[in-house]
Amino acid sequence: MLKNKVLYYLNQNKGEVVAGGELAKMFGVSRTSIWKTINALKEDGNQIESIPNIGYKLLLTNDTLIEQVIVDNLSTDFVGCSFTILPTINSTNQYLKEQDIDMLPNGFVVIADEQLSGKGRRGRPFISKKGQGIYLSILLKLDKLQQDTRIFTICAAVAVSRAIEKVCNKKADIKWVNDIFIDGKKVCGILTEAVLSAELQECSTIILGLGINTGEIVDELKDIATSINKATGLVGIRNLLIAQVLNEFEKVYADYLKNKKTEILDYYQSRLFIIGNKVLVNNLNEQYKATVLKIDDNGALVVKTELSEIKNISYGEIQLL
Ligand code: BTN
Repeated sequence: MLKNKVLYYLNQNKGEVVAGGELAKMFGVSRTSIWKTINALKEDGNQIESIPNIGYKLLLTNDTLIEQVIVDNLSTDFVGCSFTILPTINSTNQYLKEQDIDMLPNGFVVIADEQLSGKGRRGRPFISKKGQGIYLSILLKLDKLQQDTRIFTICAAVAVSRAIEKVCNKKADIKWVNDIFIDGKKVCGILTEAVLSAELQECSTIILGLGINTGEIVDELKDIATSINKATGLVGIRNLLIAQVLNEFEKVYADYLKNKKTEILDYYQSRLFIIGNKVLVNNLNEQYKATVLKIDDNGALVVKTELSEIKNISYGEIQLL
């Protein structure tokens, strides 16, 4: 499609002026059809400056999702080797649940520019405004049935932390079990959902949903949430960050398959900024204050209660005090 080709070319020369005639010659079309294509790209929300009699410039701030840019930066063997980009969807996790999973390859990824009912943990909404974040879900087909899905959340948290650190050169901390923080504010949430086998109540398929704020943060969340742009000033990096997250995830997952769980947990713990902090534990039907000590070999959080009891928390949530 001419539109994709022109956008990709402008993106490769991002911030520079490309002559209309050059584009027309390159793609074997008239200058009028380039002009029409540029207008259509602008209507799609691309930030293109038209400089009369000279050419077109894709602004450095442009952050549209471009399939070929993601592909160019991917170095995986299966994660994201097949992916789809949707302009709008209710929820990428929900989308995968509604597909015939047998027809999709292991590692299939769905990415959305906007979610109308993005889901967080415990039924909470995940605000997913158009163009303001990375909203994606990875389909994982497991070799053996699994009862504990927490390790996959941990792998995803490690992958996101590493990807942010590489692409943005900024430390990305982890809050047990599924949140990534920058400078003390949440930048990413992870929602792991299992597709259970009917008879065994164990799962053979996992849907890993990642939501990373990259742009604007809605007013009501400004005190507790941040974005890549707010924390680092970086713009226009969604495609690169998506590819890097998928690259890192495949590497961590490969370590898990090679029984290198200790290495994964060591990295996870190295970014766990809540160690030594006082927290409020919300665990099934009990709530208590405790101090975080570490995570154990299974990724459960080890805390010391105010009565000096040591507890390993496998489920539930913590709130920083
Ligand atoms: C949380 O913070 O509680 C988890 C948020 C997970 C959000 C992501 S965005 C992509 C995927 N689709 C969803 O509906 N949710 C996850």
